Amino acid sequence: MSEKPVFVTQPHLPELDEFIPYLRSIWGSKTLTNGGPMHKQLEASLCEYLGVEHISLFSNGTLALVTALQALRVTGEVITTPYSFVATAHSLLWNGIKPVFVDIDPVTLNLDPAKIESAITPQTTAIMPVHCYGHPCDVEAIQRVADNYNLRVIYDAAHAFGVKDAGGSILRYGDLSILSFHATKVFNTFEGGAIICPDEKTKKRIDQLKNFGFVDEVTVVAPGINGKMSEVNAAFGLLQLQHIDAAINKRRMVDQTYRELLKDIVGIRCVDDAGEVRANYSYFPVLVESAYPLCRDELYAKLKESNIFARRYFYPLISEFPMYRGCASARTENLPMARKVSEKVLCLPIYPALEREELERVVRVIRQAGGL
Ligand SMILES: Cc1ncc(COP(=O)(O)O)c(C=O)c1O
Repeated sequence: MSEKPVFVTQPHLPELDEFIPYLRSIWGSKTLTNGGPMHKQLEASLCEYLGVEHISLFSNGTLALVTALQALRVTGEVITTPYSFVATAHSLLWNGIKPVFVDIDPVTLNLDPAKIESAITPQTTAIMPVHCYGHPCDVEAIQRVADNYNLRVIYDAAHAFGVKDAGGSILRYGDLSILSFHATKVFNTFEGGAIICPDEKTKKRIDQLKNFGFVDEVTVVAPGINGKMSEVNAAFGLLQLQHIDAAINKRRMVDQTYRELLKDIVGIRCVDDAGEVRANYSYFPVLVESAYPLCRDELYAKLKESNIFARRYFYPLISEFPMYRGCASARTENLPMARKVSEKVLCLPIYPALEREELERVVRVIRQAGGL
């Protein structure tokens, strides 16, 4: 009989009994959405936990990205990374904006700031970098380019919940940052997302845009969307928040154990963090180098045969999907590093409930598949 399946992630769910009082409270208030008490409380609690001033909750991270671009009236061309989840670039197309792909840094796997300048044209209005795997971008170098050319910076921080550098939250950089609270993320509200706003005025504008553009009962100032988070999702977020430090701590232990178990396997290179003071261990990417006897896809298949479902995040590159591959910036020669990494990367299972025996099983398969 085959062994128990191990997926790349598994949501952290508190005991169901702990959630019932929250549901009772919603049943009592009879407010299900539109900025009810749970929504307000979660915004306040997240500001406190994350160390930010203003946050606007969304029904998912993609609508947060789409709305962030609208809030800043971004148009024309936006420089972004091909090495991300497809929603990053989709948010540009949904706004009629042309994505311009720039290659990644070989160490952080984030947008390479040294390559941004040569991609700027008179149509460029913004940069949309991604803190990939929750590892911070070179935020200062990116801001220098943005300042020189008067560009906006919107961070896709979908992976970066709780990540800090020496000065505090990584979410304070750029004009706006967005988070995803999707079920697969470190902090989840089943589905959900948020925009971190620098001031009250910007938050107000974003709150209007996520509510069809309503300012009051009879005034609509923009073709806004319905991006509101419901009370049930917000309530679940409040409960999750009570468990988040313990969950991140367990992820840290998984990360440490993998590094220890994998260290003598030649050709399997663990991706290091990018110098963050507080990491969130949202993913565990390894690069399958040529010194390992199998290529990445062969190892992926071997793990699958053993009921271990690693994922090839991020393969294919966004720039390889049909709606993007016609762009001049999507050419392979323009993105050599992203291409190379996307062919080698494999994200191993990581989540708080993973036990050491399961990690040993994953590493045993990697060792045996390579005949080691
Ligand atoms: C980098 C990145 N951006 C955006 C998103 C979109 O977030 P959501 O699924 O909450 O819409 C995701 C993940 O789902 C992501 O990984």
